[in-house]
Amino acid sequence: MTLELSPIDKAKFVAARRAADFVEDGMRVGLGTGSTAAWLVRCLGEMVRDQGLRIKGVPTSTRTAELARQVGINVITLEEARWLDVTIDGADEFDDELNLIKGGGGALLHEKIVATASDQMVVIADAAKEVEHLGAFPLPCEVIPFGWRTTQALIEETLVAMDVMGRSSVLRMNGDKPYITDEGNYIIDLKLNRIGDARQLAMVLNQMPGVVENGLFIDICDAVVIGHPDGTVEVRDINEGTVTQDRIDIADSDNLFSDLDE
Ligand code: A5P
Repeated sequence: MTLELSPIDKAKFVAARRAADFVEDGMRVGLGTGSTAAWLVRCLGEMVRDQGLRIKGVPTSTRTAELARQVGINVITLEEARWLDVTIDGADEFDDELNLIKGGGGALLHEKIVATASDQMVVIADAAKEVEHLGAFPLPCEVIPFGWRTTQALIEETLVAMDVMGRSSVLRMNGDKPYITDEGNYIIDLKLNRIGDARQLAMVLNQMPGVVENGLFIDICDAVVIGHPDGTVEVRDINEGTVTQDRIDIADSDNLFSDLDE
């Protein structure tokens, strides 16, 4: 049975399909987390099965590790890989300098470590993720559970002096319990509305005791692949300053949509 994809899923899928072209035989590949990255993992799994692509994948979350194994990707740890050729991941927001907010799916810490340990980071996204200024999406901040209320208060106090338009924050929940990251930490989502100086904010947050990492990815992303529901994709490369456009035939990928349970 073929699943009919929503327009947003079509956009995510074509971005992922196009980004799979960045992956070559023999590469060590960072595998992102989230619904867009899941498409990428499925595309790579298909290339492994049908084209004999040999890659080693380093997942950025337990969820992604599970999916990667399911689709036949050889999964290794970052300790085993040490360094990666490319990481492909989704984002919650990106701006015209390809700075990002990530962590909506709660995997920002592993995602930042893996992306930073890669020769190249490619973001895959639908067009709605593009923003003029970062910050409409709440900025995730991973904090140590010990004394988290104190850390939260310190963050909110510090935000007074920052170039942001809001400073309330909320502990991320999973039902009636705090959401727990893969590293056993909590996430505090910062409602900033608009971030004026993302570079400064990223540095200040990470200097606070109790803060493990924040979801601002500054100067980490090299290219973004933007997908549209009609199959067109745009690739923006920050290093080469190029923009290329392509079209992916969604009908060619029917087999990838079969038996999807999400
Ligand atoms: C995971 O922690 C996030 O950084 C995701 O990459 C981000 O939330 C994008 O997710 P979607 O592709 O599901 O929108």
